[in-house]
Amino acid sequence: QGNASASAGKTKAASCAGCHGEDGNSTMPAFPKLAGQHQTYLVKQLQAFKSGARLAPMMAPLAAALDDQAIQEIASYYAGNKISTNPAPKLPVSDDDDAPAKTAEQEKAELEALITQGSDLYRNGNISREVSACVACHGPYAEGNKPASFPSLHSQHADYLIKSLTDFKTGARSNNRENMMHMIATKMTDADIKAVAYYISTM
Ligand code: HEM
Ligand code: HEM
Repeated sequence: QGNASASAGKTKAASCAGCHGEDGNSTMPAFPKLAGQHQTYLVKQLQAFKSGARLAPMMAPLAAALDDQAIQEIASYYAGNKISTNPAPKLPVSDDDDAPAKTAEQEKAELEALITQGSDLYRNGNISREVSACVACHGPYAEGNKPASFPSLHSQHADYLIKSLTDFKTGARSNNRENMMHMIATKMTDADIKAVAYYISTM
């Protein structure tokens, strides 16, 4: 039954492929990967786009066209696929044209420091600023928690993770359960968000 549902979902997900990739592994960093995500989480997000509880202009009309059965089937299809790992991360290009060009060694050191900072925040949180440890809900490998419907995060695009966390922080994404992510993200600085997003994208 699960397989029949996933194969129906594959057909119905054809119109999603342009942005999310055929198997749910999007290559463009603004479009989230869906492959390997928990089915219940995907269903919840699609219903939230449909009802308008989660605002996303690109997703709203597409989700509105799906009935409950199509939502279940598409979610089952993506959940059964495997998320792809990301290429080695690069630092974003500086907007400051006058900044001296960095050497390859400087770039490497900066990236390593960023990822170490992100890993520390992910595992330990930040006690003085009361940021909860992400590991508590999203798990040691950022695989999420299936029964609790906490989403898997590992190997997601850093750009999308930064956007999600910033949207939780500003309240632009406000449908999350008991506002857990909003409370956490409001305690995070932009530097925390960048560091943890880079780290998670390498997991
Ligand atoms: C987000 C499914 C088509 C652009 C999402 C999410 C799901 C989803 C489940 C939430 C992911 C998460 O929270 O991790 C689908 C399905 C589609 C479809 C089932 C086909 C019916 C498209 C298309 C585009 C697109 C064609 C581009 C034109 C986006 C964007 C987001 C998103 C930009 C992130 C929204 C945000 O930042 O909050 N999609 N998608 N999707 N999708 Fe789609
Ligand atoms: C969703 C990151 C801590 C519970 C998310 C998402 C991100 C994220 C990026 C959105 C995923 C997507 O759009 O695909 C983080 C980070 C954390 C953290 C970086 C640590 C700083 C926690 C903790 C909890 C939690 C401690 C539980 C108390 C959730 C839940 C959702 C979520 C329930 C789904 C929200 C929804 O339905 O829209 N998290 N998280 N997270 N997180 Fe966290």
